[in-house]
Parts: sequence; structure tokens; C-alpha cells
Amino acid sequence: MAHSVNPETCTKCGLCAEVCPNQIIDWTQGKEPGFRADRIPLCIQCGHCMAVCPPQSITAGELSYEKDFFDLPMGGCGEYDFFNFLSSRRSVRNFQDKPVPREMLQRIVEAVTFAPMGLPPHKVEVTVVQNRAVIKKALPHLMKLYGNLKKWIKNPLAQFFMKRKMNAETFNTIKNHVVPVMEKGLPEMKEKGRDIFTRGAPALLLFHAHRGSENHTEDSLVAVTYGLLAAHALGLGAAAIGLIAPAVERNRDLRKLFRIPRENEVLASMIVGYPKLSFQRGIKRELAKVSWI
Ligand SMILES: Cc1cc2nc3c(=O)[nH]c(=O)nc-3n(C[C@H](O)[C@H](O)[C@H](O)COP(=O)(O)O)c2cc1C
Repeated sequence: MAHSVNPETCTKCGLCAEVCPNQIIDWTQGKEPGFRADRIPLCIQCGHCMAVCPPQSITAGELSYEKDFFDLPMGGCGEYDFFNFLSSRRSVRNFQDKPVPREMLQRIVEAVTFAPMGLPPHKVEVTVVQNRAVIKKALPHLMKLYGNLKKWIKNPLAQFFMKRKMNAETFNTIKNHVVPVMEKGLPEMKEKGRDIFTRGAPALLLFHAHRGSENHTEDSLVAVTYGLLAAHALGLGAAAIGLIAPAVERNRDLRKLFRIPRENEVLASMIVGYPKLSFQRGIKRELAKVSWI
């Protein structure tokens, strides 16, 4: 479908022109708006023009009122409910031995679809691993990979090359956080069977996207954040797990286990399940710095 304005129903209010982020619609007071042919290639299919138009007079490319839009829910959650909700979310790493029903995982995926993205449509793909037995199969691979990383970081030559290959953020995270955790955690995992990677979670979500797709790195992080919030809203517990995505990304066996397409980059993951414990209080936190200008 082309971009068009229905002259029969258009009230000439100009809201579509005002809301368009790329000024694709021309409008002057009292006149019917029209799409500017030279700017139509800039349309990102955000659907704002169609969503704002009271009489549904706009068509933006392939979008259709019937298929792609819904009536907005009344109300909203309100400021206090929203802040209470945010402040009560914590990372959950202790789970009941109970699978999460598919419908609840489906609701988390649905929430992720509402996440903002750099450029519609979504580039992010989600793989929902709803079977603990499959998650368990990943653990020996993760142990081996992080065991090797622990060895490499001790080697000055390997460290020199790692430093050159990685950015400072990744190198410092590995050296100052990941390796110390592995030094203590891997022997415990071996001896006591403690799962330091997926924490015994019954479900795991992996966020990945085609390697070359626009903005997919940031989009994946926003997506996983929506997933964490959705899990909390559903009364489930969840945590982002930074250790899993880079391992799956680099390991053929893990990619195969989780059926990640060859051309996709794995960027984020979260574990989810029914929480075993409940927190009795929240924690106050501050940002590193807030500057006002
Ligand atoms: C990008 C990212 C990666 C994380 N990776 C891990 C991880 O690998 N293992 C883990 O147990 N928790 C992980 N977490 C959870 C953090 O440790 C947790 O968010 C932090 O300690 C603050 O606690 P809270 O979420 O309960 O407020 C990660 C969180 C984020 C945002």
C-alpha cells in the first residue's frame, strides 16, 4: 500500500503532519495534508500519523488500521503504582522447581513487542527456552568456556591480545568481575552442582538479531529490560544474565543447542521462573552522578 490520505474522511486538522518524526507529511492550515514523495523513503513505519488521526484517514505504507492498531486501554497505571512497581523489582536468582506455563512466557514476549526500537520494525528475535533439561545441557559448555577465560586472563601474552581486541569496558568487566566470580564459582559448580549461570531457572530467554541489522545491540538491551519488567508484573522472578549471550555467540554447540540462526548475533539473555523467596524490603540506589544544566 502506498502512503495516502483519504480525502473523504480527512478533517484537515494537520495532526499527522505535526506528529511525523521525519516531516514526511505536508500540511497548511485549512488544507488537506499530503505525503511528500521525496520524503516517503524516510518513513520508518512508526505508525504515529495513523495512531494520532481521529477519523483513521491515513495510510502509511503497509500499515493497516485493522491489522496493526488497537484501541488504547483506558486509565494507565498512575505515577505511584508505576514507581511502586519499579522499586519492587529485584533480580531473582532463586526459583521454585516448577515450570513457567507457556502462556506466561508468551505474555513476556508480548510485553517485549511494546519496547521502543531504533528503527521499526523490530530486528530483535527472542528464543524462549521453556525446558530446564535443555538449559541444563548448556551448563558444561558454559563451564568450559569460562574456565578457559579464567586461564587466559592469567597469561600476560593472552591478556595483551585480549586488551587490544576488546574495548576497555569489556576487558575491565571480564578482569574485575567475571574472572573473580568464576574463580570461586566454577569449583563450587563442579563440586556442589551450584548453577552459577542460569541459577536453576526453569526458563531462559535469548535475545538475538541479524548481525547487520540496524541498531540491534541497543534494541536487544531495551527488549530484555521490558522482559524483566513483564516478568515482575506477572508475579514471576527474573534476572538479566550477561554471561550467557557472549558465550552462546561464540560457541557452536551452544548456538546449535539454542537453534540460533547462523547470521544472528546473540546479545542478551534473561532467566525466569517462580520466585522461591520474597524480599522484605527494597533498596535505595543512586546513579553514579546526576548533572543538571
Ligand atoms: C546487563 C546485565 C547483566 C547482568 N548479568 C548478570 C549475570 O550474569 N548473573 C547474575 O546473577 N546477575 C546478572 N545481572 C543482574 C545484576 O547483578 C543486578 O541487576 C544488580 O545486582 C542489581 O540488583 P537488582 O536487579 O536486584 O536491583 C545482570 C544485570 C544486567 C543489567
